[in-house]
Amino acid sequence: MGKLFEDTARKFNSYVMPTYNPQMMFVRGENARLWDDDGNEYLDFASGIAVCSLGHCNKRVADAVAEQSRKLVHISNLYMNELMPVLAEKLVTESGMDGKVFFCNSGAEANEGMIKLARKYGNATGRNEIISMDNSFHGRTLATLAATGRKKYRQGFEPDTPGFKQVPFNDIEALKAAVTDKTCAVMLEMVQGEGGVYPADVEYLKAVRALCDEKDILMLCDEVQCGMGRLGTRFAFQKFGVMPDVITMAKAIANGFPMGAVMAAKKVADVLTVGMHASTFGGTPLACAAALAVQEAFDKDGVLENCEKEGEFLRAELTRITGKYPFVKCVRGMGLMIGVVLDRPAGALSTLLLKDKMVTLTAGETVLRLVPPLTITREDSCLAVAKIAAALEKFALEVK
Ligand SMILES: Cc1ncc(COP(=O)(O)O)c(C=O)c1O
Repeated sequence: MGKLFEDTARKFNSYVMPTYNPQMMFVRGENARLWDDDGNEYLDFASGIAVCSLGHCNKRVADAVAEQSRKLVHISNLYMNELMPVLAEKLVTESGMDGKVFFCNSGAEANEGMIKLARKYGNATGRNEIISMDNSFHGRTLATLAATGRKKYRQGFEPDTPGFKQVPFNDIEALKAAVTDKTCAVMLEMVQGEGGVYPADVEYLKAVRALCDEKDILMLCDEVQCGMGRLGTRFAFQKFGVMPDVITMAKAIANGFPMGAVMAAKKVADVLTVGMHASTFGGTPLACAAALAVQEAFDKDGVLENCEKEGEFLRAELTRITGKYPFVKCVRGMGLMIGVVLDRPAGALSTLLLKDKMVTLTAGETVLRLVPPLTITREDSCLAVAKIAAALEKFALEVK
């Protein structure tokens, strides 16, 4: 740890609310590489928690932000913003949702907007309850906490926002049993991220879609983590072939520039009208420029194809190298959203990797979560496999 970290940490501890506990510091990044304050180089398989999907300091995004920042940064949504409809059109066209988009600044804010939309739609027929999933994560605001299917995040912040209940994920009978004449929406992640990289079953999603159609319930999909190319398709639902009524995006949508979005299909695209919802910073020209650069990279740089290819390679290699360890239950995931599932806490494995200069994440206590940039090279994939193999060997000795 360098002097810069120590000086910064001292100030951090005095002046920043203790909601985070950073133990190290990165000062520079380039694609899947990070450098700490001592000049050490790291392989990054966390991407700022699935945010920098085009890698750190992607040139397209950097240029777009630099150029737009000299032209117009912010004007408020009281005035027409040249780039917002261009970005909205791009997202709508690529998704095939034939709908409309609302822009905001984060995943939780996008989910709040989606929840408001669902309640507005449902209240017209006296329904305002939302069913979400056990083990899900939807954000830290009060409504998104209520939708989140892990109690620990809500503890201490009671009373819970009313109108939410959870059912087991991937269990259509449990969902059917929970639906009442008050239900207006079902909310889920097609691949649960924080909960432990759990993909939904295609048959389950089709059954959810059919149930929602039958009962005029909205199918809401939180694509904050699993969307925007992470699964190898631009939108997560495209991987499963099941079209939701509303989706949310954030994290990778602008490769690290803060942005969130709610996209609603035609049926509910005009539910929120003038004055019903707003966000001062939502969809600034600067954020839109960054997000348009991300879309351009998807179109021109083979990002999605690379995600499929490297995801397949990594999952196969990880399955191969983990097979001999009884404490590894399985390797799961889709595209470049990968979980190495252990039968014990995964934090120590992630720490071993960090010592070997590879940044990873955990999810749901026992899962080592790997979400590298979608632009990862084969060379870096191989390096990652070698580092994980070495860490597993050490981990096996430690847990003996
Ligand atoms: C699926 C999902 N939804 C919502 C959020 C909240 O996003 P944000 O932290 O941008 O509010 C997250 C963050 O991890 C997430 O993974």
